[in-house]
Amino acid sequence: MATKGNRDFRPLTHYTPPYGWINDPNGMVYEDGIWHLFAQHYPDDTKWGPMHWRHATSTDLLHWKDLGIALYPDEELGYIFSGSGVIDAGNTSGLGVDRDPMVLMYTHADVVNNRQQQSIAFSEDRVHFTPYAGNPVIASNEVNFRDPKVFKNPILNCWSVVISCDKVMEFYASDDLIHWRKTGEFGRTENRLGGIFECPDLFPLTAPDGSQVWVLLASTALPAPFGGFRMQYFLGEFDGNTFRETHPARLPRFVDSGYDDYAAVTFFGADRRLLMGWAEAIAYGEDGPTGEFCGLMTYARELSLVELNGELCLAMKPVTPDFDLKPVPEIEPLQLNFRQSIPRSEGALPGELFHIRVEAEGPFNLTLSNDRGEALNISLSTEQKLVVDRTKAGVRDFNPLFNSGLFSVMTAPRGQFGPAVLDLYFDRMIAETYMDGGTLVNTSVVFPQEPYTKATLLGKGRLSIGSPAL
Ligand code: FRU
Repeated sequence: MATKGNRDFRPLTHYTPPYGWINDPNGMVYEDGIWHLFAQHYPDDTKWGPMHWRHATSTDLLHWKDLGIALYPDEELGYIFSGSGVIDAGNTSGLGVDRDPMVLMYTHADVVNNRQQQSIAFSEDRVHFTPYAGNPVIASNEVNFRDPKVFKNPILNCWSVVISCDKVMEFYASDDLIHWRKTGEFGRTENRLGGIFECPDLFPLTAPDGSQVWVLLASTALPAPFGGFRMQYFLGEFDGNTFRETHPARLPRFVDSGYDDYAAVTFFGADRRLLMGWAEAIAYGEDGPTGEFCGLMTYARELSLVELNGELCLAMKPVTPDFDLKPVPEIEPLQLNFRQSIPRSEGALPGELFHIRVEAEGPFNLTLSNDRGEALNISLSTEQKLVVDRTKAGVRDFNPLFNSGLFSVMTAPRGQFGPAVLDLYFDRMIAETYMDGGTLVNTSVVFPQEPYTKATLLGKGRLSIGSPAL
């Protein structure tokens, strides 16, 4: 039950910790039917504090089994900041005795001396993790040098890691996950927004023309008035040593048009490229009215590359529960004047976990509402912009920034005109919106004091509502 909240806001199919604070997803690995997820975690409060890694596993990416705390702060080396995990097939590290180990690489953040270094820990049973005795494996005196994301380097046939270092990304290579050499860096001229990079990821995807394009994810810390912490991505090539941008975009490319999706990275070891992010914003997340836990993850999203307006861009398809989608009837149109009216459809919502699909011929306005007058509004404007407006969606006075216009209305241009298909997945306090084949995504948390009971579509098109399939 919620202790400081208005009611129980715990989502049913999104990861949340049993108690305490979480932020970034860490160490995500798939092995033998099991998805491992770790999270930046502070167990003693629902606010950010000395960072641990909490561990959970799942077989469907929707229901998570808590495995407690995997990594604790180190008295000398510091807090355990974000990082990644791999299965060390072939035991290149020599850290396995009876079995290939799972190796986690993370940042030790020394807040006394203000420096960040990279360390590793390993496990054979995938539950208990032993910090490597020779940590750190990449020593440094940098203030901002963190969030190592390890991957197999198919070009040099070794391990590589991308680490954010202030306003650039650095690349290192290793044969054993222990001894690392720097191979390159990226961003001196390409970090056009100028923020501090965090939580990188680098992986290849196949473009529609069959070519391989590398995607560099760069969560970027920007001041709140410039949109806060946002996830950008760059498209280019990786020569085994460094990343080079080959498809610069006209405007910065963002992974999500909302504020509640940050520090997202992908799973190691899966046959699909699955991305998962922290579904909160640091600007107001700590004050959220969710009671004994604070923080949640997005659904995992399968990534692909598509072409839109002559530019390549990421498309995302979430892993969700199965829903039975059923069209709902049109009701009396809304009369504008004696000559004009707007078609209207309305349906009852089946609970607090549902899927809504809108197949519209043009601009539309979708509202989820309850009898208290609270309403979340999602629309496609006549200027072809996706607008998510949570101004009246529920409780919002718990934090001045959440309560401000800055973070209440999110507007993002569509890359195309004409008919639109929108899929909205709602789970108690989180609305994930996917439009135009997942090329335009918005993740937003909302806190209705009572569940929404009704969906209303204004505009020409079809509204369908899906309850979880049994
Ligand atoms: C991103 C971040 C990371 C860091 C972690 C600390 O949200 O700032 O760069 O490792 O959170 O909790």
